[in-house]
Order: sequence, then C-alpha cells, then structure tokens
Amino acid sequence: MNTTPVSSHTTPVSSHAAYFAFRDRLLGDLRTTTLDGEGLCEAGRLIYGRPEGLSLYGVPAPRMEAVGIRLLGRTVIECCVDDYAVAVADALADIHATLPDNGTEPLVADLFCGSGNFSHHLGTRLGIPVHATELDVDVHDATRHNLSRVTTTTRLHLGDYADLLGKHPARGPRDTYFVEPPWGPAFTPAGLDLTRTSPPVPRILDDIRRSRAGAPCLIAIKTNDHIAHDSLERTFTRATRLRSVTPAPTLPHGANMDFHLYRLD
Ligand SMILES: C[S@@+](CC[C@H](N)C(=O)[O-])C[C@H]1O[C@@H](n2cnc3c(N)ncnc32)[C@H](O)[C@@H]1O
Repeated sequence: MNTTPVSSHTTPVSSHAAYFAFRDRLLGDLRTTTLDGEGLCEAGRLIYGRPEGLSLYGVPAPRMEAVGIRLLGRTVIECCVDDYAVAVADALADIHATLPDNGTEPLVADLFCGSGNFSHHLGTRLGIPVHATELDVDVHDATRHNLSRVTTTTRLHLGDYADLLGKHPARGPRDTYFVEPPWGPAFTPAGLDLTRTSPPVPRILDDIRRSRAGAPCLIAIKTNDHIAHDSLERTFTRATRLRSVTPAPTLPHGANMDFHLYRLD
C-alpha cells in the first residue's frame, strides 16, 4: 500500500477556535446560505490557512464571486477542494493504468457528490464522463449552476445514490465509486465512526456490491485523520487497500481530511 502526501503551501492556522466556531455556523445557520466572496475567502483562511486553499473547479475563493460560483455554507465545509481532488484523481488514474482494459469505458460514479468537485477532476483526469448524484435540491441546484460555469464531463443527477446504482450495472474492474456520505453523528471527539455515517458506509458498500453482482471494483473514500473504533478496517474487511492520500494537516488532529483507495473484491 502506498501513501501519497499532498504538498501544501498552507501556513498553520492561528486560531483553531475560530475555525470550529465558523464550522458550526456553516453547518448551522449558514447551512443553506450562499456565501459571498468575503465569506469564501474567510473559509479558505480558517480551514486551509489561506484564502486560495478553498478552490473548486480550478477557481480559488478570491475569484469565485467574479466567476459566479455559488457555494452553500454546508458545501464549503463538506467539499473536497482542488488540491485534494486532483491528488486523488491522479492516484486513481495510476491504479486504472495497472488494471486490464476490457475495451469498455469504466463506470465512474460520485455517489454523494455535494459540490461535484471530485467528479469534475476525476472526469477531467480520466477523460470520461462521471455520474454524480446529490439528494439535496439546494445543493444540487448550486452544483448544477457551478458546473455550467466550467468545462466538465460530470453528469449530474438529482436523487438517491441507490437509484443511480440501480441504473448502472458493472462494466469492468476499473469501475470506480467515490463514497462520502454526510458524517453527522459519526463525527465525534472520539473520531469518525464509518459505521455511523448517514447512511452507514458498510451499507453503501453492500449496495454497490449488489448493484454489480459482486464484480470487483475500486472505491475511494474520504475520512478524517482520526478514525474511531478501527471502523475503517472493519468496514473494508473484504477489500484491499491500494493507496492513501494524506494532505498536510492544517487543523487539529481529527479535523483534517484523508482519502483511501480500495479494491472491493
Ligand atoms: C459530505 S457531502 C459530500 C461532499 C462532496 N464530496 C464534495 O466534494 O463536495 C455529502 C453529500 O451527500 C448528499 N447526500 C446525502 N444523502 C444522500 C443520498 N442518499 N444520495 C445522494 N446524495 C446524498 C448530501 O446532501 C451532501 O451534499
């Protein structure tokens, strides 16, 4: 298993208390509010140590308002930013290159797409369409608007991940699913418990297996850097970890993002 550190130009965030207070607001009273340019830059500073750290679809926060990018408070805290999405897309492209090409374009799906930024970068990197689905109408509408502002291969759907799975049977071993359900009560001071996300990750993996009649595939998952109860290992018992992508921390232990790539057997 390889671990890929993501180089970072961030400086240490001076006020973690300010980050946690801002995070609570983004998931609370600002949850469905579209942030203005100043709010986006503040988010970049507090979460990533600099305004440009919040960058989606290749557009850094200081330029988002001018480009017309709309981000709701919840998406600002939940999203997978450019630096991370590009690193994970590169890692997946490397893995795809090692797998047999059966002549069929792989199925690539972002099951809980939020901003759609991961799908956007993966589709660009692989040069193929990525199916992305989002259940929340407000998030979906903002993402549809944003994707219309950039050149992308993402095919955005409004609906439940299970419906998307039901429409797309297995194509081959390079089929790839990005799994990042809302954490909600799974995120505690004791760490992230992947068996308590909404829906639980083990159930999502079962749904994926069922949709493809057990044929092997690749899974990418975002976690934080503090896993509770060994829940990552326990969730992926019938899988092989291929690589982890670990961005340089900008926040206290437990608040930073990691990514893990598995082959589901
Ligand atoms: C943690 S966020 C994902 C963020 C995303 N990776 C990004 O880069 O912006 C989870 C998203 O899944 C959506 N969601 C929740 N339940 C869902 C479901 N059953 N099917 C599809 N999307 C769902 C939420 O509305 C939320 O936008």
